Amino acid sequence: MIKNEEFVARRTRLLNSLDSNAVAIIPAAAEITRSRDTEFPFRQDSDFFYLTGFKEPDAVLVLHKDKVGNGRTILFCRNKDKLAEIWHGRRVGFEKAKTQFDMDETYALTDLDDELLALVNGCATLYFGQGTYPIFDDKVWSLLSTLRGAPKKGYKAPETIKDIRPLVHEMRLFKSESEIAVMRKAAQISAQAHVRAMQFAKPEATEYQLEAEIHHHYAMNGARYPAYGTIVGSGNNANILHYTENSDALKSGDLILIDSGCELEGYAADITRTFPVSGQFSAAQTEIYNLVLKAQLAAFEEVKPGGTLVKANKQVVRVLTEGLIELGILSGTVDELVEAQACKAFYMHGVGHWLGLDVHDVGEYKLDEADRPFEAGMVLTIEPGLYFDEDAEVPAQYKGIGVRIEDDLLITQNGHENLTVDVPKSIAEIEALMQKA
Ligand code: GLY
Ligand code: MN
Ligand code: MN
Repeated sequence: MIKNEEFVARRTRLLNSLDSNAVAIIPAAAEITRSRDTEFPFRQDSDFFYLTGFKEPDAVLVLHKDKVGNGRTILFCRNKDKLAEIWHGRRVGFEKAKTQFDMDETYALTDLDDELLALVNGCATLYFGQGTYPIFDDKVWSLLSTLRGAPKKGYKAPETIKDIRPLVHEMRLFKSESEIAVMRKAAQISAQAHVRAMQFAKPEATEYQLEAEIHHHYAMNGARYPAYGTIVGSGNNANILHYTENSDALKSGDLILIDSGCELEGYAADITRTFPVSGQFSAAQTEIYNLVLKAQLAAFEEVKPGGTLVKANKQVVRVLTEGLIELGILSGTVDELVEAQACKAFYMHGVGHWLGLDVHDVGEYKLDEADRPFEAGMVLTIEPGLYFDEDAEVPAQYKGIGVRIEDDLLITQNGHENLTVDVPKSIAEIEALMQKA
């Protein structure tokens, strides 16, 4: 659980990094209609959540910094409304929100237009993240035109508009101790769910039943939703990178690729494991699986302060290329094939990404055009794969095999901590687990 002090400290840090005589506007997410009178489960905007911990839709956070650098935090949120609360659920209300979320000022959402006009009026700089919520963009542009259109009323619009997101995203890239504790827990719950899927898998079970096992485990452990659409791809479905139909029956002799992670208190885990329906890898599956695993472990060598995703990917490409030559899938010299990126035909995605509140988390991947070196406190995935579609031009025994192995790693002072180590990965461990089940 992330404490209120931490949210306050984040807002203070962000305020410190703003220009003086500035205002920053950070809106919450809005509800999205699923079908008549029903909405998708609400998910808070990650930046807004990072700065407030406030879980209701339609709220707005405003950070105001005056000419001498004094900052204040202002939250607008939905009014208390007996009838709406009977139908749709509780609201904190602005009166309680002030103390509960440690804001300097809070207002009812119905006062937003008037108060926002007063807050923005006369500021030199407006910080805002345009393009995320088009309806909110319209509100901000209309407010600016009101300010620009009435100088006789003493209105003055900010002359500079800056994007607030890069400042917030740089903060989000480095995880605090309490964020790491939540992410460790999200990783553990997700790892146990993968174990459960391995234990449940058998011929004639279905992809959606494995998905249900996994989601059940998440929900039973306080993580009601997955962090992204769970992928359960058996057989050739594993070769569809974002397969989420999850509709087929499992066949003995096939592999199953599961890419799934829960969202806990806003934070994502992201794990992929690939295992045989029967509990036993065939000879061809073993060759491909061990090659991907070797590539992943080689990439892990670069996951330490000073390493980069590009260096990790170079390890993956070299190991995969060497292995594909040995298996007779590629022909040529290693150096030429690496240079030509020949393995891209079978490994067509990146090696990994930042992980945090968003599964593909925010944060720059380059600094001054150079690859960004890892630093302690960053969390990322390493997820090499090999995909041989049924129609791929490869020896017959490899057709229809798709393997990805993905773990979540925290960069530490000296190297990394694998947060998802609890789910078996070697063939011996996977087979032992499945045969015991
Ligand atoms: N689950 C999405 C990814 O692995 O990037
Ligand atoms: Mn991933
Ligand atoms: Mn994944």
